[in-house]
Amino acid sequence: MKPFYFLKVFCVLMFCAVANLCAQSSSPLQSAAIDQKVEKLLKQMTLEEKVGQLNQYSAGAATGPGTGRTGYPEMIAVGQVGSLFNLIGAKQTNEMQHIAVEKSRLHIPLIFGLDVIHGYRTEFPMPLGLAATWDPALIEQTARIAAKEASTDGIRWTFSPMVDIARDARWGRITEGEGEDPYLASEIAKAYVRGYQGNLDSPDDIAACVKHYVGYGAAEAGRDYNTTEISDRTLREIYLRPFKAAADAGALSFMSAFNSLNEVPASANPFTLRQVLRHDWGYKGMVVSDWQSLWEIEAHGIANDDRTAAEKGILAGVDMDMEGNLYHTHLAELVEAGAVPMSVVDDAVRNVLRVKFALGLFDHPYADDTKTAFDGPLPAASRELARKAAEEAFVLLKNEHAVLPLTGIHKIAVVGPMADNADNMLGSWDAQGKANDVVTLRNALTAYCAAHNIAVSFSADASAASADADVILVAVGETASEMTGEAASRTRIGLPGAELVDEVAKFNKPIVLLAFAGRPVVLTPIEPKATAILEAWFPGIEAGPALVATLFGEANPSGRLTASFPRSVGQEPLYYNALSTGRPVGNVDLTRPPTTGLEKYHSRYIDEQNSPLYPFGYGLSYSTFEFSTPQVSASSTSAKALNAGDAKAEVHVTATVKNTGNRPGDEVVQFYIRQRGTSVARPVRELKGFQKIALAAGESKQVDFKLTRQQLAFWNIDMKEVAEPAKVQVWITGDSASGTPAELEIKP
Ligand code: BGC
Repeated sequence: MKPFYFLKVFCVLMFCAVANLCAQSSSPLQSAAIDQKVEKLLKQMTLEEKVGQLNQYSAGAATGPGTGRTGYPEMIAVGQVGSLFNLIGAKQTNEMQHIAVEKSRLHIPLIFGLDVIHGYRTEFPMPLGLAATWDPALIEQTARIAAKEASTDGIRWTFSPMVDIARDARWGRITEGEGEDPYLASEIAKAYVRGYQGNLDSPDDIAACVKHYVGYGAAEAGRDYNTTEISDRTLREIYLRPFKAAADAGALSFMSAFNSLNEVPASANPFTLRQVLRHDWGYKGMVVSDWQSLWEIEAHGIANDDRTAAEKGILAGVDMDMEGNLYHTHLAELVEAGAVPMSVVDDAVRNVLRVKFALGLFDHPYADDTKTAFDGPLPAASRELARKAAEEAFVLLKNEHAVLPLTGIHKIAVVGPMADNADNMLGSWDAQGKANDVVTLRNALTAYCAAHNIAVSFSADASAASADADVILVAVGETASEMTGEAASRTRIGLPGAELVDEVAKFNKPIVLLAFAGRPVVLTPIEPKATAILEAWFPGIEAGPALVATLFGEANPSGRLTASFPRSVGQEPLYYNALSTGRPVGNVDLTRPPTTGLEKYHSRYIDEQNSPLYPFGYGLSYSTFEFSTPQVSASSTSAKALNAGDAKAEVHVTATVKNTGNRPGDEVVQFYIRQRGTSVARPVRELKGFQKIALAAGESKQVDFKLTRQQLAFWNIDMKEVAEPAKVQVWITGDSASGTPAELEIKP
């Protein structure tokens, strides 16, 4: 028996070794073959050529303060440029690539980057809207289309996804991310990476760049570029999680952020860049700075000249200098002076070359310049996906008297500028999106009404046509490029144009407010006057058809908020996964000022409720859904067994969800937990799973979630990520503020 036993053990070990190798080699960042090529090339490089790989310049329209630099062809020919961005088109990129590949001594190709954020030419809803779909598979498809179109124009690197957790609606860039929850953002981050990068085996795969590392979304007072102070634990629990998820999914690059994090600028922060990213996570992709963010460390106050800024950036772990020109000017000299070890430069170059090999740029440096993403009309499949994404992104916030979907309507009055504003539908980052590709609400509704014998009028103001309409649609909102996105923080976050709701209220007709916005806006003053409210975000090129399908019930809204809508701006930052306090409000009535000490000395405002107007996870449907109380497969489990990864320690939590309405609908089933009795305080709720399920009218389905170490572990008082003994509540429900919990205990 014995020899057979050893043979068996040997075979198992061999199998594991091979499986491990395969798993590792499945990411090009871990590929030994690529590393060999990198080493071979690195050996041939001069210091100047190494530094050249670390320089990136904007060669097209500036997406930050411009430098007006010229002379790239000459620089590329002598190996002084590693990457260009904002240069668009196969012909244009090929022209530069020919110089790099044919004229530079080592023939190293350039990598061309661009902000392809929610589509390239086919514009989908902006990212906060895409997140509201709670549909990672759909988001992956949108990223796939973006990759195909962008690569056709020579772009092989997108500065996306932005996975900055944002808890403050004043911050304009909340539009570019996934909202306030790290679990949801992690699932979506992975989807973007899969969509952009595919299997990294085809010329239409493009590198993802996960940004802005890290903490950028925590800008104090929601003011863009502002200071951030984040405890080590909150950093790991909240802000780092989606970055880690994207790194594990194989994202080829990271972008370091503008903000200072705990007094150290994020673009010169050895703790986050070297300790966490490289050491703890073993990340082997490349890190690019944000636009001149290395230079900005001088303004932050940790470098008194450009040379020191370059030194601090490279030593902290920023591989590539975006548009700063600091590495170009100072890095070689810093190495020669002994201030920066050559090994540090070598590692940075390795990271850049690894990405270029992973993308296959050495074998296929050129785009096919007989094609362009601008040839002809968009493919029907791309439009169809854009429409589906928009329909799934819409969040129905209010629907009194079931005014939606519209039925038995003979005359519609549409007021407000957004019904006919093609540009605005494209959002704040529209890459190569074209207003001409947008079907506006006006276009789509006119066609629908003509086909269905409905009269429709359009006006920008509260025209008299509203007086005899059956329903008034008010289409108003933020302007995408001025009011949302980068450098567009607001202190008054009401919905621009909302006064139209007041004005048409005098006609005493049902009012449907279509709110176009890049952030959670304060709807409190107008909410009572609107019969229905549909949050439409900036929906992309299929805005009109998606809105019409939703208004008339061909599509049933299934979007759910991923960022809390405040009652008042003074509540910001506002997020559902907050800690309790020592003085939670309990049953105190917060709708009026306190009248007794018992009502007053709580963590509350005297002039506003604590809760949001619409919470995280919230959204109505034309169907209604009922949840049974969740059942747990065991009333207790053990921390020790969970931490050991023992499958027997896992607990299943199940519930039945029923569509109690009279039409089919999709529900986003959300799984939350709360832990008490732990060594550090845990949030009052945390999302740990979700499923988007389709239910026919009257249909029920059982949903099943697992509680494993992954859901229960947290960074404890000793800064170890473990599960601890605790009393646990679990919810399976439709939003972060509803549901009846079941309970279980984690014993030691
Ligand atoms: C933004 C980045 C963007 C970069 C390049 C910066 O201003 O912060 O998100 O990727 O510009 O356009």
